[in-house]
Amino acid sequence: MNTRKTLCVNEKGHLAIGGCDCVELAKQFGTPLYVFDEDYLRGMMRIYRDTIAKEYGDGLVLYASKAFSCEAMYAIAKQEGIGADVVSGGELYTAMQAGFPAENICMHGNNKLPREMDYALDCGVGLLAVDNPAEADYLDCAAAKRGRVQDVLLRINPGVEAHTHKFVQTATPDSKFGFSVQSGAAEEMTRHILDKKNLRLKGFHCHIGSQIFEKQSFCLAAEKCLAFIADMKKKLSFEADTLNLGGGFGIWYTDEDEKFTFEGYAAYLRALIGAVKEGCAKYGLKQPRLMIEPGRSIVGEAGITLYTVGAIKEIAGVRKYVAVDGGMFDNPRFCLYESKYTAILANRADEQPTELVSIAGKCCESGDLIGVNMNLPEAKTGDILVVLSTGAYNYSMASNYNRNFIPPAVLAKNGTAEYIIKPQSYEDLVRNDVIPDRLKQTD
Ligand SMILES: Cc1ncc(COP(=O)(O)O)c(C=O)c1O
Repeated sequence: MNTRKTLCVNEKGHLAIGGCDCVELAKQFGTPLYVFDEDYLRGMMRIYRDTIAKEYGDGLVLYASKAFSCEAMYAIAKQEGIGADVVSGGELYTAMQAGFPAENICMHGNNKLPREMDYALDCGVGLLAVDNPAEADYLDCAAAKRGRVQDVLLRINPGVEAHTHKFVQTATPDSKFGFSVQSGAAEEMTRHILDKKNLRLKGFHCHIGSQIFEKQSFCLAAEKCLAFIADMKKKLSFEADTLNLGGGFGIWYTDEDEKFTFEGYAAYLRALIGAVKEGCAKYGLKQPRLMIEPGRSIVGEAGITLYTVGAIKEIAGVRKYVAVDGGMFDNPRFCLYESKYTAILANRADEQPTELVSIAGKCCESGDLIGVNMNLPEAKTGDILVVLSTGAYNYSMASNYNRNFIPPAVLAKNGTAEYIIKPQSYEDLVRNDVIPDRLKQTD
């Protein structure tokens, strides 16, 4: 198991997070339940923030809020003095509701809607990362209407293949994101934006993918971006003053993954910073303002999901299913990417695993699994099963499939847990349903 001071087995042999006994949390809040370790996620924000400040100087960490977006997360990011990246009007609205400073927000998206861009301008968002020509045209007019000049980045594709699942690679030649440096599309778009009176091109953005462990992919992407900056300086006399290298740092899900400490992430970032400094020296560039956008690594390992074990079905010679009261509606990542996780029994966290099981959800869908071939002690109905490292892309990808409730979330710290997302009710599920009058006729 991946333990730490705030995620450990307590004297009762129960799993504890943020000083809270998971068995007690399950009694107090019910299951399924997302639980977040506040100290861990603050620790991650601080390590990135402080490493940039100490090793680089001018820079900003943007929490990639797609990983887990709720008002409390923006409130924490604000307290920690970091920025946020948002990818929709909904994420932006949530940040605004939490009183997040708009100037520290960068808005992304390969197909931002006109109403989302208008909303971003009205909120005073610091940066938008332009990802198609029509968007540049729209933003230019929208900024002009408001009598403003809007700061933007251009999303470029440096063509670096990161070693990760193909659905989370974003800088391959066949990507819906960014403009290829290699094909000349990035240069053309740079010219396009520089021609806009009401847009100020601050620099470039790239994001090569997610759940990446190799430092070399990031360093190569940085090098390629700086080469492009140098090229634009030479050809267009435009020297970028911001370079946003996106997110993507990997986290521990199972023992097949590397396990980084806070210091390990600092070392990762130092390597990236080293590559940026080297690239600037190589190409004779001033050091741009450096941005990074970690999401998964801030919140992923901070979060766990608690379930109650229900049905247990053993198919002789085939497999054993341990079913829980959640499933693909709270964690669709196995269905999407066959993502691997580690599970333990919170009420018997000190017991060694004895068998391989598949953890099934409760949805009417054969593929509704949390994982296959997972190591567990022999589970019994009523056990509290915990899946680790579920903080990122679980709640944010959750749905009400089969009209199940999206579970609530609590934030745990120093032995106390409080709701940051309240439970849903049956009324919530039908809140937006409408029966047209003609369907109410009974004859
Ligand atoms: C533009 C951008 N920035 C940042 C991130 C965050 O990546 P991660 O959660 O892997 O750190 C993503 C994730 O897809 C992204 O698309």
